[in-house]
Amino acid sequence: MNKIILNNPLDMHLHLRDYDMLKLVAPLSSKQFSGALIMPNLVPPITTKDMLKDYKKRIQLSTSNDNFEAYMTIFFQLYDKKFLEDIKDDITAIKLYPAGITTNSDGGISSFDIETLRATLEAMSDLNIPLSIHGESDGFVMDRENEFLPIYEKLAVNFPNLKIIMEHITTKEACDMVLKYDNLFATITLHHLLITLDDLAGGLLKPHLFCKPIAKRYEDKKALLFLATSGNDKVMFGSDSAPHPTSKKESCGCAAGIFTAPIALQYLVDIFIKDSFDENQIKTATKNLQKFLSYNAVKIYGIKPTKKQITIVKKPFKIPANYTYGDIVVTPMDANEQINWSIL
Ligand code: DOR
Ligand code: ZN
Repeated sequence: MNKIILNNPLDMHLHLRDYDMLKLVAPLSSKQFSGALIMPNLVPPITTKDMLKDYKKRIQLSTSNDNFEAYMTIFFQLYDKKFLEDIKDDITAIKLYPAGITTNSDGGISSFDIETLRATLEAMSDLNIPLSIHGESDGFVMDRENEFLPIYEKLAVNFPNLKIIMEHITTKEACDMVLKYDNLFATITLHHLLITLDDLAGGLLKPHLFCKPIAKRYEDKKALLFLATSGNDKVMFGSDSAPHPTSKKESCGCAAGIFTAPIALQYLVDIFIKDSFDENQIKTATKNLQKFLSYNAVKIYGIKPTKKQITIVKKPFKIPANYTYGDIVVTPMDANEQINWSIL
């Protein structure tokens, strides 16, 4: 099989940033994706309807050459029901960050006491607004996600009608947890399907593979690959493509975030059909990829993606060294390397 057709691909976790960086990275996603869930961790974070509408306008201007839907989010705070009723038609989810856990998350949540969160989460549940979570504790870096799992569990049990998305899961235990409760769902990134901690730090340190949550062990990657490729309804593709200027990555105090937007579809095709040896296997793999990349998100979020067909062909694609706009330079993951598949 030398050609795979993808219908309405969606990236359900994307950082587009703002201004010149937005102008640089947004078209790289809008060309290949039907839509994306846009993260709100700007400085300052998106917390009001005016900020949200202005940001969406800037995204639309940057993606005006493509048929692309920006599914917007706001940054979780203890919002009241009136505010949520007023904003609900403009957002697809609310993104919760534990305070200080990652890039631009200082204004996040410092207590997961259920009674403190109850009014906001019950209102979200009543209004059918999904809760998207960066689930990490502030413990030892390799344990952070697993230490957060009891909080996911507590939220899932206390708010059974609230859709909770475990963002960018990275461990085998998180893969088990998402299957345990009907109201838990998850996104999986491209990079966590490709790398382990060894790729980042096992040899010379690779800043362009540094992200939060950090890549884990081989067994974790194996569990993620199985969950993503097996056609399970509960997981969606969310690239967590998180561009930082190359100068902030290749520096002492490297910023967390891996820029994968321009290489995501080519790599995903490679991952999904790698072990297919005949037409039937390729058919199943393509069907499962289609679920992971679009159908599952459509069902989980209840969205209607804009129609877009993307053709991926078996032709080598050399990943550019950099992408630039004015003074901004961003380095993609695996810069200068070659992928087996290209976008037609
Ligand atoms: O590596 C990351 N980068 N993880 C996140 O959660 C945030 C992101 C960013 O915004 O740079
Ligand atoms: Zn993110």
